[in-house]
Amino acid sequence: MTESVPHGGKLINLFENNRPIDFSLNYIELDQMGFSDLELIANGAYSPLDGFMGKKDYESVVRNMRLANGLPWSLPITIAVTAEKASELSVGEDVNLAFRNKVYGKMRVKEIYQVEKHFEAENIFKTTDMAHPGVKKLFDRPDIYVSGPIKLFYRPEKGLFEHFYLDPLQTRAKFKELGWKTVVGFQTRNPVHRAHEYIQKSALETVDGLFLNPLVGETKADDIPSEIRMKSYQVLLENYYPKDRVFLSVFPAAMRYAGPREAIFHAIVRKNFGCTHFIVGRDHAGVGNYYGTYDAQKIFSHFSEEELGIKPLFFEHSFYCKKCENMASEKTCPHTKEHHVILSGTKVRGMLRDGVQPPKEFSRPEVVEILIQGMKEVFTK
Ligand code: ADX
Repeated sequence: MTESVPHGGKLINLFENNRPIDFSLNYIELDQMGFSDLELIANGAYSPLDGFMGKKDYESVVRNMRLANGLPWSLPITIAVTAEKASELSVGEDVNLAFRNKVYGKMRVKEIYQVEKHFEAENIFKTTDMAHPGVKKLFDRPDIYVSGPIKLFYRPEKGLFEHFYLDPLQTRAKFKELGWKTVVGFQTRNPVHRAHEYIQKSALETVDGLFLNPLVGETKADDIPSEIRMKSYQVLLENYYPKDRVFLSVFPAAMRYAGPREAIFHAIVRKNFGCTHFIVGRDHAGVGNYYGTYDAQKIFSHFSEEELGIKPLFFEHSFYCKKCENMASEKTCPHTKEHHVILSGTKVRGMLRDGVQPPKEFSRPEVVEILIQGMKEVFTK
């Protein structure tokens, strides 16, 4: 695979920059996830979607992991409204789309439909357990969805890391400028530890460039905040990666914690950003013990490489082995577990919060320093 064609054939662009807002229109207040989805639809990251999903696409995606036209798509992209709000809306009208009382775009209402959230949860998350953060968020939302094509008038504010926000058109141009024909995308909601670095660099041995594309949208409360992570990525790249082989920009979507389903979604979106390959390691986008370690890899067998249009690169659970004195996985290391440096995410977050340094076999000291300092600042705020 040497060329990355956007999903569905063309990159969507729904900006109508700085258009005056028509305040006579009704409005829908988006939640944080809907707000980030709005921008990602508009900038083409979710191509071929040109709006929030209607009933046919929604049901087909939930049931079959495909849009109604058959194109692979694994997560619903929807807006939910209360019954009261729904009663104010009518099909065919334009509504403003607002976040925290500020209007950013509009939608032409195409459908207003009721959904069955157990059906959605069972299919998307494989559980209806409210302890699952994605399930909880789903059940916290109302069960009436409003669909329709959107336009975006104003870009959401970017904050500290403004120059790391690039649209798919821009990342595609960047990869071209760098002369990369093959680009591997890497999704993460965590700091990049040695295991991440190992699988990224293993991939880099065979492709032209690495697109480090951390998710910086809404995450669960105990994940490490993106402002801290962004600093840690930069220091890591500066010290341990060849400058001309890696490009860092952010993915401002909300995390769903949908494991396998989200792995497919993450891959498709990275294709839209211009990647030809995508890394899927162990328990991709997982949380707790809801998904099997390699479920997010197995799910790719539902699709042909042609219809996905991006090649997944699968990696085994990786770790540092003290006997090998190297990073490794079960595929390459003959030694038993007691020689392996393996720390759970929860354990590492606890260590960082307590100011305890995880070993350098687990995480680069420069990264650890930034994380500990950052966590200190968070907890003294
Ligand atoms: S997430 O967004 O997928 O939840 P996370 O940081 O946990 O973020 O993982 C990023 C990517 O690295 C995923 O593809 C995941 O499967 C992979 N990964 C994380 N840790 C390991 C590991 N120890 N060995 C192999 N792959 C890993």
